[in-house]
Amino acid sequence: MSALHLFHTHAAAGGTFFLRTEDAIYVLYIIAFALMIQGLRGLAGPKTAVRGNRIAAVGMGFAVVATLLTPGLGNWGLIVLGIGLGTAIGIPAARNVKMTAMPQMVALFNGVGGGAVALISWVEFRGRGSTYGTHAVESTIKVGAFTFHHAAPVAGPATYVAIFSVVAAIIGSVSFWGSNIAFGKLQEIIAGRPISLGRAQQFVNLLLLAAAVAAGVALIDGVHSELLFIGMLVAAAVLGNFVVLPIGGADMPVVIALLNAFTGVSAACTGMALNNPALIVFGMLVGASGTILTNLMAEAMNRSIPAIVAGGFGGGGAVAGAEGAGEHAGTVRSTSAADAAIQLAYASRVVIVPGYGMAVAQAQHAVRELAGELEKRGVEVNYAIHPVAGRMPGHMNVLLAEADVPYDQLKEMDEANPEFQRTDVSLVIGANDVTNPAAKNTPSSPIYGMPILEVSDSHSIIVIKRSMNPGFAGIENELYYDPKTSMLFGDAKSAVSDIVAELGDL
Ligand code: TAP
Repeated sequence: MSALHLFHTHAAAGGTFFLRTEDAIYVLYIIAFALMIQGLRGLAGPKTAVRGNRIAAVGMGFAVVATLLTPGLGNWGLIVLGIGLGTAIGIPAARNVKMTAMPQMVALFNGVGGGAVALISWVEFRGRGSTYGTHAVESTIKVGAFTFHHAAPVAGPATYVAIFSVVAAIIGSVSFWGSNIAFGKLQEIIAGRPISLGRAQQFVNLLLLAAAVAAGVALIDGVHSELLFIGMLVAAAVLGNFVVLPIGGADMPVVIALLNAFTGVSAACTGMALNNPALIVFGMLVGASGTILTNLMAEAMNRSIPAIVAGGFGGGGAVAGAEGAGEHAGTVRSTSAADAAIQLAYASRVVIVPGYGMAVAQAQHAVRELAGELEKRGVEVNYAIHPVAGRMPGHMNVLLAEADVPYDQLKEMDEANPEFQRTDVSLVIGANDVTNPAAKNTPSSPIYGMPILEVSDSHSIIVIKRSMNPGFAGIENELYYDPKTSMLFGDAKSAVSDIVAELGDL
């Protein structure tokens, strides 16, 4: 009997208790699921995120051990080689990546997941031979109160096995190639501007999807042709490229979250095909959290997911429909670092509003220094964080945490907005769209309806940016023409450092 002798004492019965290997695997998987879910909960806040990540990593460790216990697992040499290579590449990459390069790192790792799923499906197809998609043999395993569907390795494949592995192959391939393009755009290997076939793009994409689905249906129906399977993978691969290429570089974080959800769903499908509960549960966790994140980001940008995927927005610089800077009738007041320093030093309450420009200039340490100087003078300093300030979720939180800004000074939008009315100076550093009152006041504006940080409610506003150029949405900002606003033109890091220097002279 192939059994793993785990527990020797069965107190109640006074006899010996054996846990079969299969049962032990399921127990380990259940522990892994619990840890994974606990880990995800930890990721909900910056204070618990590191611990959450560690808990999830331990959970993944349990899942790996459980998988390695699978009876009949062969190719140990290859498995060790794979784990060795993955560790050798993964650890230095994760240790050395700059915080600003995180989105492309996530894209790359996500792509690898999708690619692995597509390859597993291909291996599954080859392994099943001519029986792919023809008949079904199932059994169930009971572990205490839990019942798991199980297909014995010797059994012929169910049609559902073919359905799930075909779906997994298509989504996995789209996700792998799409993520690679997203990586290329963020790493600036590929131009960030939208690249498309113009009007024909949507039609070509539909054709590719139809071709991949038709090939998949034929395979499920029992057509045994490896060429057809490869054709299906290639159609999905080209589709993955064509879907992401027309999307502007700045929209990539949303696309990565979406592709992340795709990879999760494809992994869950592979889990269904292979009868592996770990893949099903982890895949669905990734799929669900990726979908929630995509929705949150789209909502915070007031754009629909289809509109983002249709592309053409956020190519960096001028975009279609952009209103040119300077068309506004009002006047703009500019200020100097010396005047800004006086204004800030004599305020009792200052709110710093960081945006993409702070990230580009890497001004977070200078900003922290400025806050420290103001606090020394008795000024209360807080930070107002918009959910899509910057170019990735949590972009500002990560940068400010890196500069040791205390978490309790970071105020989310809902908490920050009511406080602007009693704020003496709002210091906007490289943030543009997320402060634009047009989102509330101008129904014709592309960002109308997008929730914003209501900085225009404060007694006075200082905006640091280099020019009157628009931000990501390519539209003019009404805030800059507000009589309460003064503009401090310059690079965020040097402008903030100049204010710090001026404060020292006061
Ligand atoms: P933006 O609206 O893009 O504005 C950033 C501003 O920073 C620009 O107007 C730019 O003006 C200024 N800037 C650039 N480099 C600078 C530097 N070195 N020093 C000083 N200023 C500099 O950024 P935001 O307010 O953070 O809003 C984020 C935008 O990105 C939103 O439209 C959002 O929908 C979009 N978006 C966000 C995400 C996520 S998940 N965060 C994902 C996709 C898209 P100058 O050129 O004049 O300096």
